[in-house]
Amino acid sequence: MSLILGIETSCDETAAALVRDDGRVLSSVVSSQVDLHRPMGGVVPEIASRAHLRLILPVIREALHGASVTLADVDGIAVTRGPGLVGALLVGVQTAKSLAWSLGRPVVGVHHLVGHMSAPFLVDDDGGAPIAHPFVALVASGGHTSLFEVAGRDAIRTLGRTRDDAAGEALDKGAKLLGLGYPGGPAIEREAAGYDGPAAEPFPRGLRARRELDFSFSGLKTALAERVRREGAVDGAARAALCRAYEEAVVDSLVTKSLEACRVTGHTRLVVSGGVASNARLRRELLRRAPGRGIEVTVPPARYCTDNAAMIALAGAPALAAGRSEAFDLAAAPYLPVPEHLA
Ligand code: KG4
Ligand code: ZN
Repeated sequence: MSLILGIETSCDETAAALVRDDGRVLSSVVSSQVDLHRPMGGVVPEIASRAHLRLILPVIREALHGASVTLADVDGIAVTRGPGLVGALLVGVQTAKSLAWSLGRPVVGVHHLVGHMSAPFLVDDDGGAPIAHPFVALVASGGHTSLFEVAGRDAIRTLGRTRDDAAGEALDKGAKLLGLGYPGGPAIEREAAGYDGPAAEPFPRGLRARRELDFSFSGLKTALAERVRREGAVDGAARAALCRAYEEAVVDSLVTKSLEACRVTGHTRLVVSGGVASNARLRRELLRRAPGRGIEVTVPPARYCTDNAAMIALAGAPALAAGRSEAFDLAAAPYLPVPEHLA
């Protein structure tokens, strides 16, 4: 059994975790920068990089402390090498390489989305029941919206992806248009949940053809901008009604395409992760529409759905177990395709 230090700095969360290669999480520390970016209405890359620099060592120290281990106990290091913001990724990659070099331990680079696909295999004192392959994975966050077929730990195939905005990005931009705060997903969810008036006119669904597994959310955003312009400054009940219709459109696209991906692959398990997986309407709709089709839905605990380093540590486990270690020219890769075969 070996102990892996995971490091994640691809966007606006500075994270470190200690995870055993069987998926047991000894500690997982996530320092969110959301308060730093909120006044700007979104993530500012330069602010993110500087915050990662300031936070990375304290966060790693806290993770070691939380797991009651020292650096000498670490058998290998796994770090997110992409995709993400280049300056942010760089902080994690350089830190991981420096630690690996000074400790004489292997280091492997991990694809951020492969990390998300590892989340359902994490177990800690508060729960987690590891699932079995194969499954269809929906990853929906502020930066990504993709569907994958995960046939095994090292066999991943992309089934569909967004052609423009990510689902979380659509919610963030929608919230901005409506004068709601950042991040937009929770703000829209709150507004929509508090509304029980008549339904607003529905929003269009992007790429709605039944067999289409790609997503599109930019038309939805344009439709909202047009309605805000037409209806003037929206607030109160009118704004809440728009939030509900907008959230319904995003959720409907995610659910419809995820179920279609299960149908075409024949897999009966759907795993949903990424920040948008916290959305209550999404969970409700999945639980309403999936069982009738013989599909079981798994949503990892929220702490492992949003960006964290435990999922990165576990995603690096197969490569570390195979004895791999990157050369010290391992570089941050802001644009990185999902590898088809991993180990
Ligand atoms: O995975 P995540 O924490 O970070 C990355 O983007 O990688 O996801 C953040 C995204 C944001 O766009 C945020 O608006 C969205 O997830 N989000 C939600 C909810 N909580 C976070 N969207 C809908 N409903 C929520 N409750
Ligand atoms: Zn993510």
